[in-house]
Amino acid sequence: MDLSVEIGSLKLANPLMAASGCYGYGVEYAEAVDLRSLGAVVSKGLFLKPREGHPPERIVETPSGMLNAIGLQGIGVHRYIAEKLPELRRLGATNVINICGSTLDEYVELARILSDAEGVHALEINISCPNIKEGGITFGCSLHGTFDVVSAIKKVTHLPVIPKLTPNVTDVASIAKAAEDAGADAVSLVNTFLAMAIDVESRRPKLSNIVGGLSGPAIRPIAVRMVYECRRAVKIPIIGMGGIATATDALEFMIAGATAVQVGTANFVDPFIWTKLIDGMEAYMTRHRMSRIADLVGTVDTSTREKQWVSS
Ligand SMILES: Cc1cc2nc3c(=O)[nH]c(=O)nc-3n(C[C@H](O)[C@H](O)[C@H](O)COP(=O)(O)O)c2cc1C
Repeated sequence: MDLSVEIGSLKLANPLMAASGCYGYGVEYAEAVDLRSLGAVVSKGLFLKPREGHPPERIVETPSGMLNAIGLQGIGVHRYIAEKLPELRRLGATNVINICGSTLDEYVELARILSDAEGVHALEINISCPNIKEGGITFGCSLHGTFDVVSAIKKVTHLPVIPKLTPNVTDVASIAKAAEDAGADAVSLVNTFLAMAIDVESRRPKLSNIVGGLSGPAIRPIAVRMVYECRRAVKIPIIGMGGIATATDALEFMIAGATAVQVGTANFVDPFIWTKLIDGMEAYMTRHRMSRIADLVGTVDTSTREKQWVSS
């Protein structure tokens, strides 16, 4: 059975990646999980400098999901390269680094620095974090902003460039197209949905940041729809995510058009989820007499539904 997939020049042993911000820097899980059994580990979002993030409360549980406003707390790129990458190399992980900037120059500088570091396999460009005021999502909410960040980064790196898109736009497919036009090797989607929760007794927002990003199973059907729309708009590979908690969920994203998938919030519920996902995928392939998981990508059959739609 062949579970491997290709994201541009990046070859993954299987389509399952740990999503940014939900798996630390990867090394924290190494005692519990063989990182080589994951398609890739996506790092927590890195800025040039360390950041403290927002004060608590930063996480709130919501029906079928969670709301977070961490504010991109992180150790910064230099400490990541010095302290985390050597261990990740030793562990044999495939490392995708999630980078965040307040300005275009910061993104370019981060891409330059990481391109010279040994053990970095791809860059995921975070132009979609809803929890910071400056930069980031401001780029990801506009066609020009997306195009400019991606094309500037492409000029300074040989690594695959994967902009991560926000769902907080009217037409995510047009943003994916702008990324493709700028030379992106793939796109990943979705980041979290802007959301809010209020404590009715105190009448205060539950998060210190007032608003945050919603993730988990609550967002899955919206994320699947967005992957499906992007698949129709671009030719580059799509990495899908949003509420994946079972093999069936992961397969749904692949059938909608994702070549690979990321698992975020579900890690907080079950850190050992990976073997269950792999086993479930293999069982599906056996049941459907498939030898290559890559053959599943984008195979959603809408033909009969479209006919029903036209005739009703
Ligand atoms: C606590 C937390 C921290 C996150 N941090 C980042 C981050 O640093 N960079 C990023 O691109 N996405 C970040 N995300 C978004 C996830 O990577 C993912 O896009 C989103 O949660 C949807 O997937 P899920 O429903 O499987 O969690 C974070 C999500 C959560 C819940």
